[in-house]
Amino acid sequence: SAGSRVFSGIQPTGIPHLGNYLGAIKSWVTLQEQYSCVLYSIVDLHSITLPQDPAALRQNILDMTASLLACGIDPERSILFQQSQVSEHTELGWILGCFTSMPRLRHLPQWKMKSGKKNEGSVGLFTYPVLQSADILLYKSTHVPVGEDQVQHLELAQDTARIFNYKYGDFFPVPKPLLSETRKIKSLRDPTAKMSKSDPQKIASVNITDTPDDIILKFRKAMTDFTSEVTFDPDGRPGVSNMVAIHAAVSGMTVDEVVHQSEGLDTAQYKQVVADAVIQTFSPIREEVERLRADPGYLKEVLSQGAEKARELAIPVYRDVQRLIGF
Ligand code: ADP
Ligand code: NA
Repeated sequence: SAGSRVFSGIQPTGIPHLGNYLGAIKSWVTLQEQYSCVLYSIVDLHSITLPQDPAALRQNILDMTASLLACGIDPERSILFQQSQVSEHTELGWILGCFTSMPRLRHLPQWKMKSGKKNEGSVGLFTYPVLQSADILLYKSTHVPVGEDQVQHLELAQDTARIFNYKYGDFFPVPKPLLSETRKIKSLRDPTAKMSKSDPQKIASVNITDTPDDIILKFRKAMTDFTSEVTFDPDGRPGVSNMVAIHAAVSGMTVDEVVHQSEGLDTAQYKQVVADAVIQTFSPIREEVERLRADPGYLKEVLSQGAEKARELAIPVYRDVQRLIGF
């Protein structure tokens, strides 16, 4: 895939959870092998569309960096950087905002969800999908790994590329989604909701740095139902099916293989099996996160070298944009 460029971003939410790992980060690691030019950005500019405590944000940026490295993002193969360190993101965001209509943004799901009942969020929250388009187009990205929840935002980036190209000639590639194949990981306590960092009960999500004891406890308390066999039926039996999906994803088996292998176990025994599989995956990651967190100087160096490489790609594109516009 010569000429292909992959871009994706993740908010600096600190230590990722199992859903982030299986839904995004794991496939990011694989994409490093498949594409020669891959950019991963810790999107701090996006994170401030909602209130952030400065000290916590600073730590969360480093924790996300440590986590991505520990999960296998290799700074020799990917350009890993902090969004705000490449100011062209914001500059292109302004320009693209001038080609984007208000009604187009008003209909996007995250605005509807996060702006409250009266849709009175900040200007930044409203225009955040424009900045996301700039993130992607600044590198003339061709492929964007996204979760289902981001598909409409990628469609905005595609439309924005087309609008720009129509006006100024064929300039931006229209970026294609690389949809995550993993089904959404659900909350362990409420398997009808997705696993999320914003879960109020601390036992509903598993973090990549959880200890084996934490993991065993959380799976032991996972919500199941009154049937004891292990089957896969996401609508009828969301709790057990979520565990089967997690088990399949961390072990690399298919759902059918997992169900077949678990014949004869009751759900209580099965919880232990899934917990063990998750522990096996996360133990080396946890140790590596701990090692890296103790060396913030190294993490900052990785980010600053990443920003330098990102800027090398961004500057020529941004110069061309300025020229096309008439600056
Ligand atoms: P959260 O939902 O915890 O706020 P983000 O929205 O920051 O997480 O998501 C970061 C990445 O992780 C996105 O690519 C998103 O699609 C993925 N992701 C988040 N939660 C899950 C989940 N429960 N299952 C699968 N992928 C998820
Ligand atoms: Na999301």
